[in-house]
Amino acid sequence: MVNEAATSISIVDDAFARVKDQTPLDSALIPLLQAVQNALGYLPAPALQRIARLLHLSESQVLGVATFYHQFQLRPTGQHVITLCQGTACHVANANEIHQFLVQHLQIPPDDDTSPDGVFTIQRVRCLGACSLAPILKIDDDIYGHVTLPKLPRILAHYTQHDRTKRAPTPSANTEAHPHAPHG
Ligand code: FES
Repeated sequence: MVNEAATSISIVDDAFARVKDQTPLDSALIPLLQAVQNALGYLPAPALQRIARLLHLSESQVLGVATFYHQFQLRPTGQHVITLCQGTACHVANANEIHQFLVQHLQIPPDDDTSPDGVFTIQRVRCLGACSLAPILKIDDDIYGHVTLPKLPRILAHYTQHDRTKRAPTPSANTEAHPHAPHG
């Protein structure tokens, strides 16, 4: 079994070799975080500690940046990431009900955000920037607007029944999808 801590440190070191001459040095922070996120799908603590050491930053500074941007995850995510908008327009349009439905339907335990089968992770964000489509959610890069509870099982099934690389848009599954809507 691969030692993920050692792997993550190795990824940081390799990425650092490419940016170590960058000035100021701390401008390499985002590229280093992205290198680990892209390789592993999340940011293990040993990688954050290594980055802090290499860039002469405190661990809290690195953690602060890692938690500020939605692109970075501190825990492993499921195969598909559901980004659920909780902004004002979506909140008014029953976003909380959608969240509750997803948690129950996917059997996500309390204090967790990933389904036990590792297929879906739910993330809640403030605004996806397409308020006229409220309530709105995003699954991976697909955006679904005007979501209602009855539509959710069919939307989710689209991701569990087809391998992502084989998935082709179908009229029944993507009626609500807006793949070109702006991302938040
Ligand atoms: S409040 Fe949900 S997209 Fe803006």
